[in-house]
Amino acid sequence: MSNDILTHTEAGVMTITLNRLERKNSITAAMYGAMADALATAVEDPGVRVVVLQGHETIFSAGNDIGDFLNKPPAGMDSPVFRFLRSIAAFPKPLLAAVCGPAVGVGTTLLLHCDLVYAGDNAAFSMPFVNLGLCPEAASSLLVPQMLGYHRAAEALLLGEPFMAEAALEVGLVNRVVPPTEASGLAQAVARKLAAKPLTSLVETKRLMKKGQQQLVQQQMDEEGASFSRMLGEPAAKEAFGAFMAKRKPDFSKL
Ligand code: COA
Repeated sequence: MSNDILTHTEAGVMTITLNRLERKNSITAAMYGAMADALATAVEDPGVRVVVLQGHETIFSAGNDIGDFLNKPPAGMDSPVFRFLRSIAAFPKPLLAAVCGPAVGVGTTLLLHCDLVYAGDNAAFSMPFVNLGLCPEAASSLLVPQMLGYHRAAEALLLGEPFMAEAALEVGLVNRVVPPTEASGLAQAVARKLAAKPLTSLVETKRLMKKGQQQLVQQQMDEEGASFSRMLGEPAAKEAFGAFMAKRKPDFSKL
C-alpha cells in the first residue's frame, strides 16, 4: 500500500496529506483514487465533521503526474481523476486546505471547491493548462472568471503564469496568508472550531450557498473533462509532455 496519500482523523477532523515529495506531490491516478475514497468515507462517517487537504511546507502539488497522464490517460468519466473532482465539488461537509509553495494545475483548481483556504506566504498558484496543450478542469473555466473577473481570469488561464499568495488573497482564492510553518496549524485550528459546531447547520448552510450553481459546475466539469481527455491525445499535449520529460522547451510553432 502506497504512502503517497496519508489520511488521519482526530477530533472530528480528517486530514488528507499529499505525501509524494520526491515528485513534488504530483498526483497519480492511484492518488486521485485514494483521495476520492477518503472523501467518500468522510461523507459517510459521522465521526468526520470536517476535512483538511494539505501538502508540504515547501510544495502543495505540482499537479497531475505527467508521466502517469502519458502512460495511463484517464479513460472515461469514472476514472480516478474525474471521480476525485466530482467528490470535492459535491463534498457536503466543510472542506479546508492549507497550501504552501507551488500549487500547479489541479493543485490550484481543487481550491475552488474548498470552503476555507489558508496559504503560506510562499504559495504560488498556477493553471498552465494552455502551456501543456490542454484546457482547464475542475470547472475552473467557470469558477475562475467568476472569482477573478474575466480579464484577470484570461491572464491566469490563457497565459498560465503563477500568481503569489498576496494576489490570491486579494481575489478571494485564499482566506489568510501566514508563514509556511503556520499554514497547516491554522487550518487545523479552524477545522477544530468548525468541528465543534452543529454539523447539520454547517451542511445545510454550505448546501444553500452552493445550490445556485451546483448543476452548472457539474455540467462545466463534464464538458471540460471530455475536452481534456480528447486533448491529452492530441499533438499539442504530446509535444508539451514530451518536452517536459526531455527537460526541453516545447515547440508549438506548427500547432
Ligand atoms: N509530473 C511528474 N513529475 C514531476 C511533476 C509532474 N507534474 N512535477 C515535478 N516532477 C518531477 C520532476 O520531473 C523532477 O524529477 P527528476 O528529479 O527525475 O528530474 C522532480 O519531480 C523534481 O521537480 P523539479 O522540477 O526539479 O522541482 P522544482 O522545485 O525545480 O520545481 C515545480 C517545482 C512544481 C515548479 C516544477 O516541478 C513544475 O513546474 N512541475 C510541472 C508542473 C506541471 O506542469 N504540472 C501539470 C499540471 S496539469
